[in-house]
Amino acid sequence: MPDVAFVNGMFVPLAEAKVSIEDRGFQFGDGAYEVIRTYKGHPFALDAHLARLERSATALDLTQPHSRTEWTRHVLEGIKRAAYPEAKIYIQLTRGVAPREHTYSAELAPTVVMTVREFHSLDRSVQAAGVEAMTTEDIRWGRCDIKSVNLLANVLARQQAKQARVFEAILVKEGLVTEGAVSNVMVVRGGAVMTAPEGPRILSGVTRAVVLELARNEGLPIQERFISEAELCGADEVFLTGTTVEVLAVVRVDGKVIKDGLPGPITRRLAEGFMRLVG
Ligand code: PDD
Repeated sequence: MPDVAFVNGMFVPLAEAKVSIEDRGFQFGDGAYEVIRTYKGHPFALDAHLARLERSATALDLTQPHSRTEWTRHVLEGIKRAAYPEAKIYIQLTRGVAPREHTYSAELAPTVVMTVREFHSLDRSVQAAGVEAMTTEDIRWGRCDIKSVNLLANVLARQQAKQARVFEAILVKEGLVTEGAVSNVMVVRGGAVMTAPEGPRILSGVTRAVVLELARNEGLPIQERFISEAELCGADEVFLTGTTVEVLAVVRVDGKVIKDGLPGPITRRLAEGFMRLVG
């Protein structure tokens, strides 16, 4: 089965999908996006992702081309057409096509793109062993809650991680951990689960919310507050959450071993709970 693309209301083979060089997504990174994955052919938390797309679009003053019901229909149709065992759905919404000028007209028709590709989960052995991360300065703008296609700082941070041969770059702003380049960061200290609060400094992860709910149901104390870099390195457990990483233990940060260097008991419990939830 070929990868599927959906461009401005039409399904086309991915290789034939095109947008104009005058698209403001290309010219300015002027757009919003979402990444959703399927489990056994069903999109996980689709409604929460579509709700966040609406929030990002509203915050960027982008015209919403489709209602949530219409989006749901397109996503399900895309999954059906691609027919992958597991798929990654990428939705991108830009302000549209216009001669390059920073200001825009409210009449512009947005460009709407969706792709459906095969998704390969992380190796179970990687999940079981945990991963290594590095810290790097969070140089992003002041509205990280918007899932904007403007990902330069994340791209650079992720590349640093790749060059350092570690899995994720953990972003630190003024000594405080915000999130990962492609994930949210959680820390366990004294049995409590801690993570940066929602607000302009982080993307409010769909997986983050699901995992916090799981933790709450397990009776674990939760603290939504910023963690210092020192608290991160001295934590009992560190883990990442995200659509692509699920619940993933971090066992080493900047070369320093977290606790005994193994995924901790609370991380494992939450990872198991998450796997049960997604089937
Ligand atoms: N990224 N924080 C950042 C900066 C992210 O880019 C992501 C996800 C998350 C986790 O959010 P969620 O649980 O809703 O996936 C947190 C996606 C997968 C990406 O850009 O590829």
